[in-house]
Amino acid sequence: MKTPSQSPTQERVAIRTSDVWKSYDRGAIPVLNGVDFEMRAGETVALCGASGCGKSTLLHLVGGLDEPDRGQVWVHGEELTQRRDVVRFLRHEVGFIFQFHNLIADLTVEENCLLPATAAGTNRTQATERLHRLAERTGLTHRLRHRIQTLSGGERQRTALCRALMNSPKLLLADEPTGSLDERTSGAVFELLLELVKWEGATLLMATHDRGLARACNRVVEMHNGRIHESS
Ligand SMILES: Nc1ncnc2c1ncn2[C@@H]1O[C@H](COP(=O)(O)OP(=O)(O)O)[C@@H](O)[C@H]1O
Ligand SMILES: [Mg+2]
Repeated sequence: MKTPSQSPTQERVAIRTSDVWKSYDRGAIPVLNGVDFEMRAGETVALCGASGCGKSTLLHLVGGLDEPDRGQVWVHGEELTQRRDVVRFLRHEVGFIFQFHNLIADLTVEENCLLPATAAGTNRTQATERLHRLAERTGLTHRLRHRIQTLSGGERQRTALCRALMNSPKLLLADEPTGSLDERTSGAVFELLLELVKWEGATLLMATHDRGLARACNRVVEMHNGRIHESS
């Protein structure tokens, strides 16, 4: 359904949340207390805040992995709760990168990456071409036929980047994407992530507690007491 947020100026808004509330255990654990947040398309934003403050919760709501108790979330001008085909919509709009790669250990790099493309109904030739381009970009070409369990931590996260980008989403949500890596590998994977975001003309919202990584983003926002505050 079209919403008033679809005016021409608003189309460049990648994410908007309005008075979003979320708690767990039927309200016993309040987490988000009226989050108002907006991101323009093409921006890179770091979402910072103490562990347990609700960063992952917010990313999950924006990525449609969970629903708010109250309030609205728009992605690319579409209000998520208003769409009946929200999963199909988000499959093309949003790529997710998690702290622990969430890949299937027994499958190869190629098999893992082709899964989202298959789910989206992309034909195999096109999907394979896309994967080969991404693998080249991320230095994984020689690893495509290798199982995840034989890869290093950095290679696993690079595979996760490829998988997230398979359906050419214009919004990437990254939840502590380098949190499981040592400092040097973390820096390299993060640089690659920023490069890919630029290359794809995508928007990046990244939860991180690493101030160094956060500073490399266009904007840093802080989550505190269940709300978002702009950082100076
Ligand atoms: N599925 C869940 N059930 C109950 N409590 C949860 C659940 N997910 C997260 N929480 C709690 O909600 C709070 C926010 O968690 P989270 O969004 O993961 O924070 P962050 O990512 O900033 O560390 C924490 O207190 C966490 O324990
Ligand atoms: Mg988290």
